[in-house]
Amino acid sequence: MHNYRKINSDVFYVGASDRRLALFENIYPIDRGVSYNSYLVMDEKTVLLDTVDHSVSREFLDNVEAVLSGRKLDYLIVNHMEPDHCSVIAELVIRYPELAIVGNAKTIQMIKQFYSFDVDSRAHVVKDGDSLSTGKHNFVFAFAPMVHWPEVMVSFDTTDGYLYSADAFGTFGALSGNLYADEVEFDREWLDDARRYYINIVGKYGVQVMNTLKKASSLPIKMILPLHGPIWREDLGYFIGKYTTWASYVPEDKGLLLVYSSIYGNTASAMDLLASMCAEKGIRNIHMYDASKTDCSVLVSECFRYSTIVFASPTYNAEIFPKMETLLLDLKAHAFQNRDVAVIENGTWALSSGRKMTELLSAMKNIRILEPSVSIKSSVKDGEREQLAVLADALAASVNKAE
Ligand SMILES: Cc1cc2nc3c(=O)[nH]c(=O)nc-3n(C[C@H](O)[C@H](O)[C@H](O)COP(=O)(O)O)c2cc1C
Ligand SMILES: [Fe+2]
Ligand SMILES: [Fe+2]
Repeated sequence: MHNYRKINSDVFYVGASDRRLALFENIYPIDRGVSYNSYLVMDEKTVLLDTVDHSVSREFLDNVEAVLSGRKLDYLIVNHMEPDHCSVIAELVIRYPELAIVGNAKTIQMIKQFYSFDVDSRAHVVKDGDSLSTGKHNFVFAFAPMVHWPEVMVSFDTTDGYLYSADAFGTFGALSGNLYADEVEFDREWLDDARRYYINIVGKYGVQVMNTLKKASSLPIKMILPLHGPIWREDLGYFIGKYTTWASYVPEDKGLLLVYSSIYGNTASAMDLLASMCAEKGIRNIHMYDASKTDCSVLVSECFRYSTIVFASPTYNAEIFPKMETLLLDLKAHAFQNRDVAVIENGTWALSSGRKMTELLSAMKNIRILEPSVSIKSSVKDGEREQLAVLADALAASVNKAE
């Protein structure tokens, strides 16, 4: 059954949403689902921009067939060769035998790695800055390497001013009828997922994202059409601004984040006490998480969000508690940088989690470790209470100086 959407007289949304998938990339929980967007342009030649994940292939194929209504499909522009967008290429080639596949040399190579149909005979290879005219529409290709994979490019239709932005400007979250960001409460209902998507999926490649934003800033963009989540046709500056913040690794919000691991609750109690002290010093926007309870993708995203962060962990078999260690390793993997942090350790006989957390954090770029690093021997006593109070002062100073 088709359920395509008309964006303008020539351009149609032919993607679909999946609300059944538990884990995107088999690792990121997506309680709100995800959409796989695809766009079909009905010009003198017909042009499809990317396909979808196999999970929504039936809806997608029905949409394409309905919009084409008997016409053949001339071009498939492949902006991104990751399987969440290219799963249906082989099926399209069977259905539309004259289909030409537009991609760069890396894209074409990847198609050959994933599939075994004859790619070369239908490949239309483009270079950075090349364009493709399909009649009324004219697509200019700008390479965006590592925004998410090395072959990624974005396509700009100079006729409509539409930027087909691949994974950039995407977000987790299924579309529920409303196709445009201005039709939903984006800031309230989508932004957390958009941040979590960006940080976890492309957060490591801030430099490359900034390069792409720079390239795009010279284009007269009227609409941004990403491969996941709603389309942007109003207030583009809001979302471009968010991307600029995230990609440049500066805190998005002035605020304090407290993340702990705790087996029996003593480290958790210490963090609750610290939080109370911080609140009494006037710190607003304090957020606290248990690293065993909250998914790591949320924690990484929150770490990118706030200006000042405390990590607390018991010593566990002479190591950092595994959930906390995973978080710190994941932050490193995402090039986390430019933050004020503090470390609290706990242990009963030989404390080492503090030193090990400090080592991991010190290996990241421009991380300032606030004093004192607090050591708790099993539970908070008077001396440790005093240390936490001194730390609360340092945290207040850090949050207040944050932009
Ligand atoms: C499996 C296990 C291994 C531990 N290994 C160490 C250790 O190597 N060194 C240490 O000082 N304490 C170790 N501890 C003790 C805890 O770090 C300590 O009891 C701490 O106070 C627990 O804090 P919590 O109440 O927040 O869980 C271990 C505890 C458990 C359960
Ligand atoms: Fe991707
Ligand atoms: Fe994607």
